[in-house]
Amino acid sequence: MATATPLQMQDAVSQFLATPRKLLIDGRWVAASSGKTFDSIDPATGEVLARVAEGDKADIDAAVKAARRAFESGPWAKMSASERGRIMWKIADLLEQHTEEFAELETLDNGKPISVSRVADVPLAVDLFRYMAGWATKIEGSTIPISGPFFAYTRREPIGVVGQIIPWNFPLLMAAWKLGPALATGCTVILKPAEQTPLSALRLGELAMEAGLPPGVLNIVTGFGETAGAALAAHPDVDKIAFTGSTEVGKLIVHAAAGNLKKVTLELGGKSPNIVFDDADVNKATAGAANAIFFNHGQCCCAGSRLFIEDKIFDKVVEGVSESAKKIRVGPGMNTDTQMGPLVSEEQFRRVCGYMEAGLSEGAKAVVGGKKVGNRGYFVEPTVLVNTNPKMKVVQEEIFGPVVTAMPFKSVDEIAAEANNTSYGLAAGIWTKDIGKAHSLANKLKAGTVWINCYNVFDAAMPFGGYKQSGWGREMGKEALELYTETKAVCVKIN
Ligand code: NAI
Ligand code: MG
Repeated sequence: MATATPLQMQDAVSQFLATPRKLLIDGRWVAASSGKTFDSIDPATGEVLARVAEGDKADIDAAVKAARRAFESGPWAKMSASERGRIMWKIADLLEQHTEEFAELETLDNGKPISVSRVADVPLAVDLFRYMAGWATKIEGSTIPISGPFFAYTRREPIGVVGQIIPWNFPLLMAAWKLGPALATGCTVILKPAEQTPLSALRLGELAMEAGLPPGVLNIVTGFGETAGAALAAHPDVDKIAFTGSTEVGKLIVHAAAGNLKKVTLELGGKSPNIVFDDADVNKATAGAANAIFFNHGQCCCAGSRLFIEDKIFDKVVEGVSESAKKIRVGPGMNTDTQMGPLVSEEQFRRVCGYMEAGLSEGAKAVVGGKKVGNRGYFVEPTVLVNTNPKMKVVQEEIFGPVVTAMPFKSVDEIAAEANNTSYGLAAGIWTKDIGKAHSLANKLKAGTVWINCYNVFDAAMPFGGYKQSGWGREMGKEALELYTETKAVCVKIN
């Protein structure tokens, strides 16, 4: 366990936590119409961190009404793209000025190390808003040379009122990924944060108001998936729903969206292969394989959870990754020397422990890890499993914890099929110095992102999303914007 004394939280953070948090509807902070609240829990201790309004269908209805009004007739509807971009840039500036406050909120609510939220979650969210702010003025249609005496052109118009449901693994960053393209294109939003981690999104809502976002453009309804989330997905006056979370709930969203055939984008689970060839720089590949699974405690949809190692170097890489795992300092995220915090919730803790037990009872062997850590909070050991077979649950299903299965392979000819042997297709890693082999394998992998000699590299400009049951559509980059617009073809007779 990490030993440093915990960071003293900023006054702004303790004040934010001390006040019951409300919903943001039509530019005002309001209690849930039922008056209900729920607790956000500190996963390092299992204790209550803050009290939050529990929105449900009635609050979603009010938020959708506000978003519809703002979209059709509010100042947002008349605002120039340049002005929209300026407000988004201002949100980024304010977020950056409050980096430490957001890092602390994120660490307390989610559990991740403060050293990570400071350099990853908050700066990546800032960068996303700036990148998307730049796009606001660059969303263009085209002129099209059609047959006959006609002038034809296209316009890209905002899709309308958008519902966005996000998970708890990168609470602020997932809010940014969703809000960025929606605001840049001129949509209005109802955001439903995960019930485990509602706090940073609510604070972001305050900054968005401060930056001058008109009332109703961004509404934030905290609450549970089965109530608030389901009502949003099914709402007849929502034009698009964007969801990140489990594949199971992704399928429910698709069904719920069918009522009014709203557009749907989904960013779902993964079981990503990370493939190490014997001609790789073994030290870099080993460090990369550890980072691929242990970053954010394995709570990444793109986690490199199936580690394929060419058989000649299998033992060496397994030993290296296991050594890294042993050295990881596990402890409360607010300790500055912590490298791995608790899992986000008791539910996730039980789920991950269940997978570790299932793997071991089915005959897998833990080279390192395999157990929980301590008796308080939701800590587990970084774990490397070997002696697995492709039928085991730990090889097939998304664990969403710091648990990797390491498997040997014989040749490049067989590895693409093995790597693709899953219902998911989010990401993949390849480690080799043979550039031809790397590119030819990258082409064969059914994955939305392929990292070569690196892993977990994200950029606001680079599209991210999944093949197969890892999702529909892409986030970030230009691709994301297209999914928040409708194309209108206009045809004019010219003589
Ligand atoms: P989840 O899919 O239930 O939750 C994600 C979001 O969906 C939350 O905001 C939740 O309130 C909402 N939601 C839940 N049920 C809903 C419904 N019926 N209608 C509308 N919205 C709903 O994920 P959960 O239960 O937190 O985690 C379970 C597993 O999902 C994890 O172990 C992991 O495997 C996967 N997961 C994947 C993520 C990713 O980034 N792709 C993120 C979080 C979880
Ligand atoms: Mg769930």
